[in-house]
Amino acid sequence: MSHTIVIFGASGDLTSRKLVPALFRLFSRGRLPESTRIVGVSRSPYEHSEWRKSLRETTERFVGKSFSSEAWESFAPNIYYQAGDIKDGDSFQSLAKFLDEIEEGKSTGRVYYLSTMPQLYEEAIQQLGAAGLACDKTGPRRVIIEKPFGTDLKTAQRLNESIHHVFREDQIYRIDHYLGKETVQNIFALRFANSIFEPLWNRNYIDHVQITVAEEVVIGRRAGYYDNSGILRDMFQNHILQLMMITAMEPPAKFDAALVRDEKVKVLHSVRKMTGGDFAAQTVRGQYAGYLQEEGVPANSQTETFAALKLYCDNWRWQGVPFFLRSGKGMSCRTTQIVIQFKNVPHQLFGGSKSKTKLGNRLVIQVQPAEGIQLHFETKVADAGMKTRTNHLDFNFQDSIGGEEMPDAYQRLLLDAVQGDASLFARGDEVELAWSIIDPIIEAWRSPAAPPLHTYPTGLWGPEECSQWLFDQKREWFDVCPVI
Ligand code: BG6
Repeated sequence: MSHTIVIFGASGDLTSRKLVPALFRLFSRGRLPESTRIVGVSRSPYEHSEWRKSLRETTERFVGKSFSSEAWESFAPNIYYQAGDIKDGDSFQSLAKFLDEIEEGKSTGRVYYLSTMPQLYEEAIQQLGAAGLACDKTGPRRVIIEKPFGTDLKTAQRLNESIHHVFREDQIYRIDHYLGKETVQNIFALRFANSIFEPLWNRNYIDHVQITVAEEVVIGRRAGYYDNSGILRDMFQNHILQLMMITAMEPPAKFDAALVRDEKVKVLHSVRKMTGGDFAAQTVRGQYAGYLQEEGVPANSQTETFAALKLYCDNWRWQGVPFFLRSGKGMSCRTTQIVIQFKNVPHQLFGGSKSKTKLGNRLVIQVQPAEGIQLHFETKVADAGMKTRTNHLDFNFQDSIGGEEMPDAYQRLLLDAVQGDASLFARGDEVELAWSIIDPIIEAWRSPAAPPLHTYPTGLWGPEECSQWLFDQKREWFDVCPVI
């Protein structure tokens, strides 16, 4: 069945930087269903040809050396533009008419991609419903919703409720682009396609888990959004909790959307709620030096650009195993990594280490940018009696795909939405539960009992106090920038 992908917010950055390049790459590889059409909708008036021309420029820039003019010439005629205002019902009537025209009355699936300002999501959904665009009599109708999905539990619940008046849950695709990353999906393969890790993947062998999403970049010109959001809303409620869920979940009976998401949701249900003094003891807040001087940031802003949390999952597998989650802007390098830190051997035969924080084997999942996995283990130092040192086995994704470019997350997610596979999208209850974990921390951080907001210099690993915090718990952050 052919498909039409309608992008609302077509003149925005995401469309030109990510969505159209991803669709073009899919098209070039013959992955899109035949005669898939793309219709951009936003307020600015454009001719189809103008929009195609501007997208050609941006797509060539973002796709880089694999861009082919020949492929673009075949792709471009399927791109259309329709001016429209989300607040205007007539725009949706015209859009409905236009879609019927280009689909020539044939049975066609439609994916509506909401890439507008989040404040417009509710209205866009209502308008789609009112114009009959959600009705799936002539083909599936699906809606993709960009992050952020609400700004707290209440707004997320309201948004879910209002979407459910128009679309059924199985038509809704809440995007978290981390789930589209190959290395994140590879965690499923690592855990559930191998027999050697899963028996160790529990409280008996694992001391703790570290999840770090470090970014070298600072907030740049995003103060308007960022200062109201802060790192907990921007990175933890979505990307980091997603990484935690996939690391901690039980194996589903089948790899299908309902069962995978059931298992992920169970992890969120098991997260121990913080109360009273926990907020000060189990969280660290930071703001990079110079944040207050960024354009658009209020001089007295208390917004966090760094956070570290210690969470526990109260269930059989993870009881007592801390999950240390950390993310920051203005860090020493860009790296997203998950460290599974195994316990020490029960009895040291070879002297062992004098360090108070050095533990046993470590599995490092490099999500990006040095996509790969390293297993750290002790080996004998040659010709030195029974002295040992840490070495590692190294798997590198780039090598396994012959140096080819790793596909962008949006490729996989757009294709899955077109094909109706929601396994890599967040379900309504999942998003709400994630907020119910993050909201109390945000609230505590705005109260007099908030832990101090540490200032940290850019180019390092966040506040020194955060390293000390973990050191005091006889553990150490894996502060290693990946070699690319
Ligand atoms: C976005 C956040 O969701 O993810 C940004 O809003 C962040 O602040 C970005 O920089 C990180 O994504 P990636 O794929 O570059 O790790």
